Amino acid sequence: MAPRHFPPGFLWGTASSSHQHEGRNTNNQWWEWEQQAGRIWHGDVSGDACGWWHEIEPDLDRAAGLGLNAHRLSLEWSRIEPRDGVFDERAIMRYREMLEALRRRRLTPMVTLHHFTNPLWLEAAGAWLDPHTPERFARYVAYAVEKLGDLCQLWCTVNEPTVYAGMSYLEGLWPPGATSLLLTRKVLEALLRGHATAAAAIHQAGPHHRVGIVHNFHIMRPGTRRLRDVAVAKIADEVVNGVMLHALRTGQLVRPLGAASRTVAGLRGSCDFFGLNYYSRSWIVFDARAAGWTFSRAYIPEHVEQSDRNSRGHAYGEIYPSGLHRALKRINRLNLPIYITETGLPDHDDDQRPRFLLSHLGEIYRAIQEGVDVRGVFIWSLLDNFEWSEGWELRFGLYAFDQRTGERRLRPSAALYAILARANALPGLDASRGPRDSSEAEFVAPVSLRAS
Ligand code: FCB
Repeated sequence: MAPRHFPPGFLWGTASSSHQHEGRNTNNQWWEWEQQAGRIWHGDVSGDACGWWHEIEPDLDRAAGLGLNAHRLSLEWSRIEPRDGVFDERAIMRYREMLEALRRRRLTPMVTLHHFTNPLWLEAAGAWLDPHTPERFARYVAYAVEKLGDLCQLWCTVNEPTVYAGMSYLEGLWPPGATSLLLTRKVLEALLRGHATAAAAIHQAGPHHRVGIVHNFHIMRPGTRRLRDVAVAKIADEVVNGVMLHALRTGQLVRPLGAASRTVAGLRGSCDFFGLNYYSRSWIVFDARAAGWTFSRAYIPEHVEQSDRNSRGHAYGEIYPSGLHRALKRINRLNLPIYITETGLPDHDDDQRPRFLLSHLGEIYRAIQEGVDVRGVFIWSLLDNFEWSEGWELRFGLYAFDQRTGERRLRPSAALYAILARANALPGLDASRGPRDSSEAEFVAPVSLRAS
């Protein structure tokens, strides 16, 4: 029953993003989108969000009080560069204050430079469809790193390029609401170009800077053993994961996401680490009507454990811990250190989150034991926040947050995460009980940990 210790210096953090936590980000495309009827569940808006632009310190006290040693946040491009080529010194000073506040609390900062939002002026120019945007992005990144580089060394260029491109240009659920495979491909390629030019700019700022891109790895499982279901699940996996991993390894963006095989200049070798966001898996079956989506339909069967439901009445996702281990093993082929830049679940009554934390951290531990270089984990999120088109309904926080009153309330899972972070370990497994489901196994209470 020996505790399962994580490597010394392992980062135990939480993750956030500017638009979802700061509040009053009125100068980006999401703010505008939220004002349009029918775009967000219940007509919610980000509004004051968690109020971090105004005041972040009390929540950072909460993170530090849990014994965490890291936090991932994002910079809001639309604040730093409110007009094309015009930089706002006050905005960058506010980010300096935030990063200083993190460091005072011994929270290692990880900073994301693009987390889904674009300045309005950029959106008006065509956002990532405009050929100049990768260079514009690198210009903003160079400015941010020049001004903040003494306070942060871990940089994520782009958060989830496939999700941004897919939700905004294929599924039409995010601004600008397009539904075109051609545009999706173009945007994805531009994001990878933006990442590569930004990575070069960051590396130029000093050898101590570490750069990564953040990918949402989603497991795709065939719904049945029928050949056609197996085949479409394989294709779906290629679209969602394979193409991205291939691009980072070779610098080539290939079909089906590249229009043809295209070399993205500077992409190969651009990353010092891989940022992995892991949430869930989908079950995939062949569907002749789904021509636009490679003839596949995703679903989550009733018999699997599911987190809270989303706006379309579907489960947000299956709870599938060993998918995290599988993702880590596959990403490990890139030979890069890995940070789990996000993992978590919507669970308003916190009846699943404690077990989610134990089981997913157990899978990370298992991968580390097998030689995967995982350097840290960031739980999404420190507190409930504005969940894009799902609005405020989905509750991802270790702290419950009431956006109407501003009240914060510790959830039991936060207390559990604190015990694990402080110990830098998980409780030991009771080997005498023999093999069983890993999530159940890790329910052997934190008692053995406390005793150690
Ligand atoms: C991820 C996003 C993050 C948050 C979580 C729940 O895909 O990066 O902003 O919405 O999902």
